Amino acid sequence: MAHETILILGGGLMGLTIAHQVARRGLPVTVLSRSRREAAGFVAAGMLAPHAEGLSGELLALGQASLERIPAWVEQVEGDSGLGCGLRPCGIVVPCAGSAEAEAYPTAAHGQLLERAALEHQVPGIGPSWQAGLLFMQDGQIDNRRRLMRALERACTGLGVGFEEGTEVEALQRDGSGALAGVALRRADGSRHGLPCRRAVLACGAWSAELLPELPVFPVKGQMLSLQGPRQALRRVIFGPGTYLVGREDGLLVVGATSEPAAGFADGLTPAGQRQLEGGIAALLPEAAGWPPMERWWGFRPCTPDEGPLLGPGPIPGLLLATGHHRNGVLLAAITGALLAQQLCPDQPSGVEPAMAARFLRAFRWDRFAAA
Ligand code: GLY
Repeated sequence: MAHETILILGGGLMGLTIAHQVARRGLPVTVLSRSRREAAGFVAAGMLAPHAEGLSGELLALGQASLERIPAWVEQVEGDSGLGCGLRPCGIVVPCAGSAEAEAYPTAAHGQLLERAALEHQVPGIGPSWQAGLLFMQDGQIDNRRRLMRALERACTGLGVGFEEGTEVEALQRDGSGALAGVALRRADGSRHGLPCRRAVLACGAWSAELLPELPVFPVKGQMLSLQGPRQALRRVIFGPGTYLVGREDGLLVVGATSEPAAGFADGLTPAGQRQLEGGIAALLPEAAGWPPMERWWGFRPCTPDEGPLLGPGPIPGLLLATGHHRNGVLLAAITGALLAQQLCPDQPSGVEPAMAARFLRAFRWDRFAAA
């Protein structure tokens, strides 16, 4: 029996990751994408940092489960696309004013405490105000913006995933029982169509609540910039308060990020945001302040009230959710892809233990806030 096409609403990192996993399992899948340039996957710095970000509780467990899966997932993406993703298991340093601050860090138990001399050894040239730090060797980075997103797109097209670029899903259609029956779309040429479908994944990032207002997802704007440093200028990622520095293999230094919930969907860079990043660079790695500037950009993180994602079944039968990943989308893509593939293709192995999948789908239910 031919399978019905699964629609993925959103062509960002989550949408592509899920489409890839579903296509690998042999099911027909089409990605509907309004605007590729809005995708947070092209905005983020690509840190893989459950420990450096100081996550806790179920979100830390989800992040750790994803981190563990990343090498195998990247191998699949690279194998299916023929493109490298720039995964670097480089470790992340969190600099602190002193040892007391380092010891009090939420994930301190997972890291290695560094006194000033050890900190300087890990990050030559680190600013003088940091007297201690934590090194998380298990954390790392991936070149999301230049490599991972493109590799995923190519892996998807190679496996026959359909793409509709410039297509906005304007509404979800339900049948008499309330289950998903289709989507109403507006294509790039302005024409409107209905597309029947019984199974879809909502992966619309910061815009998720525009399609389904029950979802508690809102935008948190982030501004970023990049500088060109010498090749392999930075061995470790530096995750400072309010600013982090992510050095790619070729010396590009990606600098993030402001966190501006009050900005809503306001487009553009602001002098205050750029000053924050420039001040952060000067404090963390003074020599980098003189490196040639490359790009400046911004985007919108999809946030929820507890900053955890919404995963699995949603308010409409047939519609699954993969949104609300806030600061941790790149990290959480691998586990999100596996969990959603398990939901969409339950007869095939997902690589996630059923008990673990059930635990995460419970912890990250879309309606957990109403129940609290
Ligand atoms: N992952 C860090 C950020 O969103 O800025």
